Amino acid sequence: MEDKRPEWSSHLSFIIATVGSAVGLGNIWRFPYIMGKNGGAVFLFTYLLIIALICIIPLCCELGLGKLYKQDAVKTFCSISPKYKWVGWLCILTVTLIPCFYFVVGGWILNYIWIFLKNQLPQNFAIYFSSFSSQTFMPCFLTILFLIMTAIFPYRGVNKGIEKANNLMMPLFALILTILAIFALTLPGAKSGLLFMFKPDFSHFDKTMILTALGQALFTLSIGMGTILTYGSYMKDDTNIVKSAYTLIICDTIIAITAGIMIFPIVFSFGVEPSAGASLAFISMPQMFSQLPCSAFFGLIFFALLFFASITSGISMMETSVAAFIDNFKISRKKAAIITTAIIAVISIPASLSFGVLSDFKIFDKTIFDLLDYTTSNIFLPFNTLIICLIAGWSIPYFWKKVFGEGFLGGVFNILLKFAVPVILICVLVTGV
Ligand code: PFF
Repeated sequence: MEDKRPEWSSHLSFIIATVGSAVGLGNIWRFPYIMGKNGGAVFLFTYLLIIALICIIPLCCELGLGKLYKQDAVKTFCSISPKYKWVGWLCILTVTLIPCFYFVVGGWILNYIWIFLKNQLPQNFAIYFSSFSSQTFMPCFLTILFLIMTAIFPYRGVNKGIEKANNLMMPLFALILTILAIFALTLPGAKSGLLFMFKPDFSHFDKTMILTALGQALFTLSIGMGTILTYGSYMKDDTNIVKSAYTLIICDTIIAITAGIMIFPIVFSFGVEPSAGASLAFISMPQMFSQLPCSAFFGLIFFALLFFASITSGISMMETSVAAFIDNFKISRKKAAIITTAIIAVISIPASLSFGVLSDFKIFDKTIFDLLDYTTSNIFLPFNTLIICLIAGWSIPYFWKKVFGEGFLGGVFNILLKFAVPVILICVLVTGV
């Protein structure tokens, strides 16, 4: 139990922490390759519209629930009505399963930081990556190491741990991203890269692309698993929710676009397919860096960038479960952090092994890693977001007035919350399943 509910020490710290949660592998690794696969600019514009008009609603809902109830996700839904307690636990289940595959990637990042630090680079990164990720011991060990490095911050608390980590790492992250983007713009492929990103090719415009954009938007904004709700519960009473939500959306989008500006010029300069997919970060990018004069430097800062992005997101995932365990089981923060770490460790090991000894072990034709990624991103996230919007819209009297205000904008948001967003999410779910 914590004697008093923690509170961010300033509004800026709150914004930095929520941006730290939102900005993660979803922006630097997933966004560019999904954009590459979905035709570049058309995807980008669809994504921007979705984020500004649709995702703002569940984002404000979670922040609003956090600010109104000042509790963890489970207690919040229980306070609305005990019959909604399961929604809180479903959020906790989701946010505990995501790190089980996310931290496996964190372990790979640690390994790449190590090889660039030693400056012992393999000739062929494709062969290297598949032989490394299929090993048994090392990837598991690094996943657990990444998990422990992340867990230290929720273990230390909101102000001494989470806030300090974000205030230190996010500025470093922004600095590295800017350096790499400026460098990328000096390469010969910069023009083709930028044209690919910003000149729309409408032949890619279809239903699947729209749904992919929505799924990506929910994932990148950390919506639908109680994380934003938990961070929101530590905010000061005078914080403006709509303004904070737009600030978060703008920062997250600028960072995702800058990541594209960093990646596509490099990709076009070295003649790699922009739709290379997930392997872009672990095969194509390091292979390209290894051909540059200062290969160790560029490789190192690129993986440091991925490290900062993933650890600040990881911290927010773990904090959501830790807060729920503290509030619901009346245990200390330290105990809650240890329990969360143990649960994630047990599930992330088979997820890591699904690239090696467990690669043939499949459930619904998916390895454990893919199953965790697929079910959380395509089913749990839209489902939880749908339920959160329905509860906020229909079960809490005047919720929209408390969060959005009474004016015209409040009215529009209310209609979006009660009708438009739920209908869209149901479409996403049906397609996702
Ligand atoms: N938003 C993060 C990203 O884009 O990588 C992912 C994430 C963070 C998911 C926090 C869930 C969460 F609770």
